[in-house]
Amino acid sequence: MNYRKFIEAQVAQIQATVGDGIAISALSGGVDSSVVTVLAHRALGRQLKVFFIDNGLMRKDEPRTVVRMFRCMRIPVQLVDARKEFLDALRGITDPEAKREAITRTFYRDVFARLVRETGARFLLHGTILTDIEETVAGIKRQHNILAQLGIDPEREFGYQVLEPLKTLRKDGVRKVAALLGLPKDLVQRMPFPGPALAARIVGEVTEKELELVREATAIVEEELKSVRAFQYLAVLLKDQATGIRNGRREFGRIVVVRCVDSKDARSATPTRLPWSKLERICQRIVALPGVNRCVYDLTSKPPATIEYV
Ligand code: XMP
Repeated sequence: MNYRKFIEAQVAQIQATVGDGIAISALSGGVDSSVVTVLAHRALGRQLKVFFIDNGLMRKDEPRTVVRMFRCMRIPVQLVDARKEFLDALRGITDPEAKREAITRTFYRDVFARLVRETGARFLLHGTILTDIEETVAGIKRQHNILAQLGIDPEREFGYQVLEPLKTLRKDGVRKVAALLGLPKDLVQRMPFPGPALAARIVGEVTEKELELVREATAIVEEELKSVRAFQYLAVLLKDQATGIRNGRREFGRIVVVRCVDSKDARSATPTRLPWSKLERICQRIVALPGVNRCVYDLTSKPPATIEYV
């Protein structure tokens, strides 16, 4: 594919569709929504309103990091505090697809619909990529950003149109576009991060307590593995508990899974052969988190596993 032509065509398409109207873009901190935002900003300038929705499911310091990165590119980002809305929507839900649906509903029906009303926008830009569509259509996983393929008409149901400039690309193509758009290297190489965010890494109910644990574990894994150059690395909090010993006494503690995979486009993935010393260090740091007494490394490829746990 000629990615320069792709960029020109998408910029022209966004301009033609939005005309002199207003569009909104919501950043998640991942590479797809970052690329779509820069593409749309190139097409629309001030007609584009960019938001970072703090849904309470984000990584440590993520809202500040993303706003800062975009400020460096002279793209203003407004931070929206929707933490309570998302946590309320997730309360009591343990089924993985129901969790994803609750997140989708809160994003589209509540938060985006409100932002659209407040800004007078009629368009929402989305970082949907081909893999998201394929996995949803194949019934593997309902990706948080898939609507039309599930028979949902956003204009009728939520009052705005959704534009998906990246829907013919896979992750490697998105990175090529990112580089051609002149995004900072850190952003071009930014690891994928799922729309449902840390909720995709908590098996069982998502509460503030579980989020705090998985957020801390994620920060440890990201810090320890950033030099490894793997496709994606993450921490997952299991619902199960395991017997352990702390301060000479029995403890029934939490289990954290460390996952690190090599992949080209996320359609398939294999576990990264990490040095033993690295794994030991991560394990020591993770079992120092309150209530966690076991840390395991996931050796499963995709398929049969997926990269995320929910
Ligand atoms: P899985 O877990 O399906 O993930 O192997 C494949 C890639 O997609 C990311 N992912 C998502 N991205 N919305 C997204 O934007 C989602 O709902 C979603 N679920 C998974 C995941 O992090 C991996 O890179």
